[in-house]
Amino acid sequence: MIIAVDGPTASGKGTIAQALAAHFGLPHLDTGLLYRAVGRQVFLDGGDPDNGGDALAATSFPDSLLLDDALRSEETGGLASRVSVHSSVRQALFERQRAFATQPGGAVLDGRDIGTVIAPDADVKLFVTASVQARGERRWKEMTGRGLDVAQADIEADIARRDARDMNREDAPLKPASDALILDTTQLGKDAAIAMAIEVVEERRATG
Ligand code: DC
Repeated sequence: MIIAVDGPTASGKGTIAQALAAHFGLPHLDTGLLYRAVGRQVFLDGGDPDNGGDALAATSFPDSLLLDDALRSEETGGLASRVSVHSSVRQALFERQRAFATQPGGAVLDGRDIGTVIAPDADVKLFVTASVQARGERRWKEMTGRGLDVAQADIEADIARRDARDMNREDAPLKPASDALILDTTQLGKDAAIAMAIEVVEERRATG
C-alpha cells in the first residue's frame, strides 16, 4: 500500500504521515528533507539557490547531511522552497523518492507532489491543509516553545510567501491530485486529525 500525503508548510502533513506509518507499520519518507538538504548544501557551498546550476550541483549532498539539525530551520525551509523550483533538481531527486514509494510492502511519503508526480499510482492520497492563520499560530507556538523570539505576523507572511512559490512554480506545483481527499486541519486538533486520516486509509483499504 502506497500512501501519499501532500500539503503546504505547517499543515500537519508530516505529523499525520508519521502517525499513519506507525499505525500501518510502513516505512516513511519526509521528502521535504531532501529539498532541505539541497538548500542547505547550496548555502554551505556559498552558491545561489535561484541559480539552476548551483542548485543541481547541491543535489549530490552527502547522506549524513540528512541528519543535520540545521535542516529543520525556517531559513533552510525557505532555501528548500527556492531550489525546488528548478526542474533539474526535481528530476535529480525523483528516482530516490520513486524507489522508496515502490518498495515491497508499501510506504508513506509526505511532500508537495507525491500524489501528482512521485506516486500518481498511490492507493491513498491525502491533501492536508489549514488556513495561513492556523498554520502561523502553530508554527509560532512551536518556535516560541523552543525559546525563539519571533513575531506571529512575520511567520504568517513567510508561510504565505512559501505557499505562493510552491503553488505557482511551473514544475510539479503544490496542488491536490484530482483523486486526493482533502483534510482541512484548521479546526482539528492533532489527535482528531490523525484519527481521521487513519479512518480514511482504513476505508480505502476495505473498499480496495
Ligand atoms: O515540507 P517541507 O517544508 O520540509 O518542504 C520544504 C520545501 O521543499 C517546500 O517549500 C517545497 C519543497 N518540496 C517540494 O518541492 N516537493 C516535495 N515533495 C517536498 C518539498
